Amino acid sequence: MQRSTKSTMTVAALALAAFVTTLTANTAGQGGQPPPPPAANTPPKPLVPVAASSVAANPDLYVGEYVTMTGAVEANLSKTSFLVDQDKTKTTGKDVLVLAPNLQKAAEANGYVTVIGQLIKFDPAEVATKLKDYKIDLSPEDQAKFKGKPVVLATAVINTAGIDIAKKPIPPMSADDLTLQKIMTRLPPAQAALRKALDGSSADLTKEQATILKTSFTEIETFWKAKGNEEATKWAADGKRHADSILMNVANANFDAAKTSVTPLGATCASCHGKYRERMEDGTFRIKAAQ
Ligand code: HEC
Repeated sequence: MQRSTKSTMTVAALALAAFVTTLTANTAGQGGQPPPPPAANTPPKPLVPVAASSVAANPDLYVGEYVTMTGAVEANLSKTSFLVDQDKTKTTGKDVLVLAPNLQKAAEANGYVTVIGQLIKFDPAEVATKLKDYKIDLSPEDQAKFKGKPVVLATAVINTAGIDIAKKPIPPMSADDLTLQKIMTRLPPAQAALRKALDGSSADLTKEQATILKTSFTEIETFWKAKGNEEATKWAADGKRHADSILMNVANANFDAAKTSVTPLGATCASCHGKYRERMEDGTFRIKAAQ
């Protein structure tokens, strides 16, 4: 008894540590750019730590809350759902259902887990509105059996090894991601060097960096044009125009006028990233499909 309580608490501590790490990683800025929005699974409310038995005994207390629920896996019901209860040695009948859309492997029977997610009363229609890309894979019998019973819609399921078995693997970079990445990584250093060149009123250096930016924007424009994405194509074209106007003004030795293009040029990066760039949990980026 003592032992199980202790290991349950260890799991809870690990879960929280993992979660806090995720939150910290999510708020860290990248390369001087504004921090990305929080990951989709960041709960809008504080997490309530709770044992599965307390949920089973008093589900109403927790409906709507985001919980970190500890317990032992009683049974796997489907590829993405299992039952948790308090005691791994006996079936108490006080089980709590867990739906984990991204479950990567079956939870270990009788193993202690910490489940993080929102607790609701099971209702297929409500699950469908909360988890848009998820298809319930419980049997019709189980769906009927658990209707109105507490269910945690899990965004994380952490086992005793501290591994989140409900975490989507990070997809490898596609050929398109790699093509864009090659262009993108040239841009921040070019922007920084451009600012410096403008501050130092160096026509040659300004021209050199503005040309790198112009060429890059041209390549970005070509890339998105081929994808048939008019909006992204336009942002790239805007960026190119600002680079052009820097080149023109510097040719006339008008550094003050050239400087006015720096901010709007940077804004085109932010516009496109806001809609078409996605940051993975490991800090790498991917092209995001239009919503
Ligand atoms: C029209 C869309 C678009 C514009 C404009 C754009 N980007 Fe990007 N950028 C993306 C996309 C999509 C990704 C994610 C895929 C990738 O990593 O290449 C990305 C990725 C990046 C990355 C991460 C590269 C990596 O993988 O390490 C950096 C840095 C970057 N952009 C900087 C810039 C800067 C600076 C500008 C403006 C001067 C800019 N981008 C303009 C779409 C754009």
